Amino acid sequence: MRKKIVAGNWKMNMTSDEGRRLVKSVIMDIKERFSNGLPEDYRVIFAPPFTFLEECSKLVSNTKGVYVAAQNCHSAEKGAFTGEISAVMIKAAGADYVIIGHSERRTIFAENNAFLAQKVNTAIKNNLHPIFCCGESLKEREENIHFNVVETQLQESLFHLPDHQIKSCVIAYEPVWAIGTGLNASPEQAQEMHAFIRNLLMKKYGKAISSDISILYGGSCNGENARVLFGNSDVDGGLIGGASLKAVEFMRIIMSL
Ligand code: 13P
Repeated sequence: MRKKIVAGNWKMNMTSDEGRRLVKSVIMDIKERFSNGLPEDYRVIFAPPFTFLEECSKLVSNTKGVYVAAQNCHSAEKGAFTGEISAVMIKAAGADYVIIGHSERRTIFAENNAFLAQKVNTAIKNNLHPIFCCGESLKEREENIHFNVVETQLQESLFHLPDHQIKSCVIAYEPVWAIGTGLNASPEQAQEMHAFIRNLLMKKYGKAISSDISILYGGSCNGENARVLFGNSDVDGGLIGGASLKAVEFMRIIMSL
């Protein structure tokens, strides 16, 4: 059964002190609302900066359904890559997920589909679940090529995976024009793209696998709009930026699943 997921991508925000306060507050709230941690098919994921990864993993370790993700990893296992972090290190720090292909990595750090495919392979090899991001720019949507763009991103970075590996992935649809702009996709736009993605998965991997993979929406998702976005049949939760930095707001989003 596919999971309902809210993941908070902190990006380059939060010191460890700030992060500790936020995580403690959210897990305390979760434990108060659900006595034994989250229900079986629910996941909450924190994606803090690397400096807080290991401590964050320890903080969530005894709360059922709460996990930690890194925001990026390198494609190589190890070596002379100054400033980079490997999938092995991330796993050793206690994380179970890694965000791959975020639009900020694609645009600011020039990561292309082929490089992202290598990262996906390395992540899976090291028992990390990729949270693979895809999404079109405003120009691409205006040119009406958004479906082609997303299809190419998936074909070139993810669809080389065999059945047993694609099953470990989470997909996040994040239209670039909605990220950090306050302009979220409408529920109809989100559902339309998520259904398109699920259909691509079905054509490639069959019905059972396609209906098992969680597809998250990201882009100006907040406590106000989360419920209506998550209310769509193919929207299985959200990848949250700005609104994941405040415990009360993040909790509102979690309670919208
Ligand atoms: P915002 O929620 O701040 O728009 O960011 C979305 C995002 O990029 C999550 O990865």
